[in-house]
Amino acid sequence: MTITIKPISIKHAQAFHQALDQVARERRYLLLLEAPPLEQIEQLVRYNIERNTVHFVAIDGNKMVGWCDIRPYTLPGMTHSGELGMAVVAAYRGRGLGHRLLEATVNQALADGLSRIELEVFASNRIAKALYEKLGFEQEGVKRRARYLDGVWDDLIMMALLKPTNPPAN
Ligand SMILES: CC(C)(COP(=O)(O)OP(=O)(O)OC[C@H]1O[C@@H](n2cnc3c(N)ncnc32)[C@H](O)[C@@H]1OP(=O)(O)O)[C@@H](O)C(=O)NCCC(=O)NCCS
Repeated sequence: MTITIKPISIKHAQAFHQALDQVARERRYLLLLEAPPLEQIEQLVRYNIERNTVHFVAIDGNKMVGWCDIRPYTLPGMTHSGELGMAVVAAYRGRGLGHRLLEATVNQALADGLSRIELEVFASNRIAKALYEKLGFEQEGVKRRARYLDGVWDDLIMMALLKPTNPPAN
């Protein structure tokens, strides 16, 4: 079985909606607990494509099994940085796909000129945190008791990866 990693296109919107909904409904890893309506996802995908946002997806046959995107900030002075989000659907985890997706996305974003990539990960999500550290992300802070869900508190860990170039090109 070959899983391909490629930039998202508008034809992937529905599959992205499904994959996002699947992971959100696990209620552990993402802030969302379900995907927004499909129309919103279509808008987001269009926006990402128009702005050349780095948004890679992992495709197995006609199924989307993972994604990773880095959305650059648009405010003046902030456009050198972006926020990363990613997931692999449950049945495909632990086989190196997250690593491949993250590496491809980060490398493309750095090549495109971003010099700071940030993210937030729940403290309970040790696998994701370990993966981010492996790729060079460092912890910058902790939002303590950021979430109380299903009777459990969780901290949010803020992490970032900096490209060693200063000042930014923009
Ligand atoms: C986090 C996530 C993207 C990682 O993707 P993955 O395909 O499962 O991870 P990989 O197989 O590429 O493994 C990457 C690293 O994660 C860690 N890891 C993976 N599975 C693990 C497990 N069962 N136990 C401990 N560590 C594990 C290891 O450090 C591994 O590196 P190694 O292969 O060199 O040992 C995936 O588990 C996922 O989608 N989780 C739910 C959604 C999520 O957490 N998104 C991120 C929100 S911030």
